[in-house]
Amino acid sequence: MRILVIKSSGNKNGSSNMIADEFIRGATESGHAVTEFDVMRKDIRPCLGCNHCGMDGDCVQQDDFENDLKWQIREADMLVFVMPVYYYNWPAQLKNVVDRFYSFTMELTRMHKKAALLAVAWDDTKTVFTITQAYFQTICDYMEFENVGIVLGGGCGTPELTSKSPYMQEAYELGRNVK
Ligand SMILES: Cc1cc2nc3c(=O)[nH]c(=O)nc-3n(C[C@H](O)[C@H](O)[C@H](O)COP(=O)(O)O)c2cc1C
Repeated sequence: MRILVIKSSGNKNGSSNMIADEFIRGATESGHAVTEFDVMRKDIRPCLGCNHCGMDGDCVQQDDFENDLKWQIREADMLVFVMPVYYYNWPAQLKNVVDRFYSFTMELTRMHKKAALLAVAWDDTKTVFTITQAYFQTICDYMEFENVGIVLGGGCGTPELTSKSPYMQEAYELGRNVK
């Protein structure tokens, strides 16, 4: 399977990317072809809502979404969304990616991709991932993605805390077991 891991932290060696690396290690060991795309280091602009695409066509914006990520998404069998929680929600840069699905929503829903969520947060409370997780599931339902797994790394506020957390192993196992 071709797996596209979409990362969204400014901290290259931070907690969410550490969790992603473990997922990638497991998936690679299981023979999957994994590619990574780091939205924080690319030019991905917000959707303008101009409707030029009609939800199924070219986008007027020529940036790294239209010219690069869109093609990588098309080619992937599975998308993995990797994020630090920002104010109980997805980081804006990653939300931009979802909003830009607009230009090929019709096409994308017909592809029935698999999807997973890897999220970290400083807090380790019951509610810290409520919105993050609900948004992921709602997008899976709308885009007709199959939710194949979620890792919610509560208490992963620093790389040191994350390295000692059980979520490294959880992410590795998710990668190892995706089919
Ligand atoms: C703008 C911003 C907002 C944040 N909001 C939350 C939050 O709502 N809840 C929480 O537990 N941690 C919050 N954090 C902390 C990060 O989620 C946490 O430090 C995480 O480990 C950072 O991951 P990274 O190393 O991959 O960047 C926030 C951090 C930033 C910079």
